[in-house]
Amino acid sequence: MAALHFDCGSALKCNTPCMFFDDHPEFLETSSTAAGKDRLNLRHVAIIEEHCKILSGSRVLDIASHDGRWSFAALQAGATHVTGIEGRGHLVALANQTFASKGIDPSRFRFIHGDAHDTLTAGLGTFDVVMCLGFLYHTLRYPELFAGIRATGARHVVIDTRVFAGGARVVRLIKNPKEIDSMAVEDRFSYEGKTLVGTPSVSAVVHMLDTYGFDVASQPDWARIRREHPGVTKARQYERGERVTMLAVSRD
Ligand SMILES: C[S@@+](CC[C@H](N)C(=O)[O-])C[C@H]1O[C@@H](n2cnc3c(N)ncnc32)[C@H](O)[C@@H]1O
Repeated sequence: MAALHFDCGSALKCNTPCMFFDDHPEFLETSSTAAGKDRLNLRHVAIIEEHCKILSGSRVLDIASHDGRWSFAALQAGATHVTGIEGRGHLVALANQTFASKGIDPSRFRFIHGDAHDTLTAGLGTFDVVMCLGFLYHTLRYPELFAGIRATGARHVVIDTRVFAGGARVVRLIKNPKEIDSMAVEDRFSYEGKTLVGTPSVSAVVHMLDTYGFDVASQPDWARIRREHPGVTKARQYERGERVTMLAVSRD
């Protein structure tokens, strides 16, 4: 099927293909983490296409950049530069490899192998947009994370996370084994190869953002996204409200 081209209505016209990962199958090979094409394509609509006006022309920080899939998508949406932080070295190597094979100008990206909290705390400079995708449920180090995001000076933060059901401002505790690539890396707080992490409720995420000076501006309408892509399935977590995407804007 020929790739359709998405028109975000922006004067900048980022020309993001509608079903992005049809054109970039490398990312179906470099990771087994939720790498089903349908799900990635729908996430691309919610994470990138819905926000291409803010990504276009921006310097972007991608927290937990994995194999570089969302960093690459941000560049394709018109970001001028992207910095990824990823805790697993082999995923950083894969991201660099894929970017090289796609001929991306090395001056437009940088992947850092390191713990996201420590790297942010050490200071990374300034960014326009922070993407925190698939990461909030692999940490409990929220103050370090959000203070670090605040310190980047970013006006926009795109969050995509699994959430714990219920209205209360709570975090459901779980532990992540270090062996699984999609989960928390071992850090100085881990014990016997396991890291204590938590799945926050929507209210908890909103509260974290608010505490650090960000308001939630919008959330993609998953019912509409599904209607507009009837043949593309596999986004049930989003449809059931077990996972959300949100755009937060700085109050400053
Ligand atoms: C569920 S995957 C999300 C990948 C991608 N951002 C996405 O949304 O598709 C979580 C990623 O976070 C990384 N990660 C886990 N703990 C980390 C940490 N403390 N610092 C940096 N990266 C970490 C994992 O290695 C993995 O690549």
